[in-house]
Amino acid sequence: MKKKVMLVFGTRPEAIKMCPLVNELKKRETLETIVCVTGQHRQMLDQVLETFNVIPDYDLAIMKQGQTLFDITTGILEKIKAVLENVKPDIVLVHGDTTTTFVTALACFYLQIPVGHVEAGLRTYNIYSPYPEEFNRQAVGIISKYNFAPTELAKKHLLDEGKDATSIYVTGNTVIDAMQHTVIADYHHPELDWVGDSRMIFITAHRRENLGQPMHNMFRAIRRVLNEHPDVKAIYPIHMNPIVRKAADEELGDCNQIHIIDPIEVFDCHNFEARCFLCLTDSGGIQEECPSYGKPVLVMRDTTERPEGVDAGTLKLVGTSEEKIYEWFTKLLDNEEEYAKMAHAANPYGDGHACERIADILEKGYTSI
Ligand code: UD1
Ligand code: UDP
Repeated sequence: MKKKVMLVFGTRPEAIKMCPLVNELKKRETLETIVCVTGQHRQMLDQVLETFNVIPDYDLAIMKQGQTLFDITTGILEKIKAVLENVKPDIVLVHGDTTTTFVTALACFYLQIPVGHVEAGLRTYNIYSPYPEEFNRQAVGIISKYNFAPTELAKKHLLDEGKDATSIYVTGNTVIDAMQHTVIADYHHPELDWVGDSRMIFITAHRRENLGQPMHNMFRAIRRVLNEHPDVKAIYPIHMNPIVRKAADEELGDCNQIHIIDPIEVFDCHNFEARCFLCLTDSGGIQEECPSYGKPVLVMRDTTERPEGVDAGTLKLVGTSEEKIYEWFTKLLDNEEEYAKMAHAANPYGDGHACERIADILEKGYTSI
């Protein structure tokens, strides 16, 4: 009988990192692969599913405009029980640190279904930063039986927390697998035509703990720097959260050096990242991607769970105060030496074979779960 592996995910970044794994698992004859999406995101999730040609077997469709953590938690918990009881998976794979991930792991714990955690072991050890992600991933770490850590450092965190060494596999990050195919030399996009010969700044921002004043600080700093550098243009594919959209519109809406556009396909996103001069972001995933292209990233957060990129020199944690963001953004535009210090391609997150490794472990190592 085939082993039933069920993958559950719900947001854009989970989908970007789980769809390559879905497609790898589907090639394996000894496994039956079942996909359940929670629909914590809708348009931003569907965009990724389409890119990777993944059609979910189950869709809990829980997204509401302006959803709270309570809405997401109860929405998933209520609906996923029936799916798990119907499918009876041998193992459920979840990814990273979203509320979809935490609630799915909790539901599996209640039903005593083994959980495999993809992208396990990232830590800031501050449960309010990033919020609620640090809590989510630590909580999943208590429940999970299989831990697919992207790096040796992530493995060390899990060992230090007392996880059994035989439950931890260092696989690399599955996003690096996806990136092997996305960035191409002959790439064109109307937004890049608009940028022309100007230096292109790539911007994203969405974190819950940054909603409100921190996000206004970021946007004000960006606006000041753009005003002082007419040779620079910025592209900002904006998250669909209406709170983010309102803040960006208020602070940047009438700035003609920035194009605020709808979320772009991951294929475009990686090609934009590879061609930018520098990136300003509070995203998690982008901190893994930009080091591969040697593009300096100013991380507009107080903490990061991706210190490998900071150590590699490509990431600089600048916090969320207007002055500090203004200072570093200006420095990298005006000071070639400072820019050169950060612009080194390094890929601390894997070799592009993470999905194969995870699939091999699920096929061959299964009896030892
Ligand atoms: C979620 C994750 C976060 C992850 C991020 C990736 C939690 C608590 N947060 O945060 O860890 O970094 O996704 O982007 O799990 N919306 C739409 N359409 C979409 C997606 C979102 O309209 O396709 C709007 C909705 O109004 C929704 C709001 O954005 O209520 C916020 O979405 P939500 O998933 O609650 O939080 P994110 O900030 O996206
Ligand atoms: N991304 C995308 N389109 C966009 C913006 C981001 O495909 O318009 C990709 C990006 O390349 C990365 C992921 O989305 O792989 C990051 O997602 P997000 O910032 O929403 O979440 P986080 O990584 O912070 O959890």
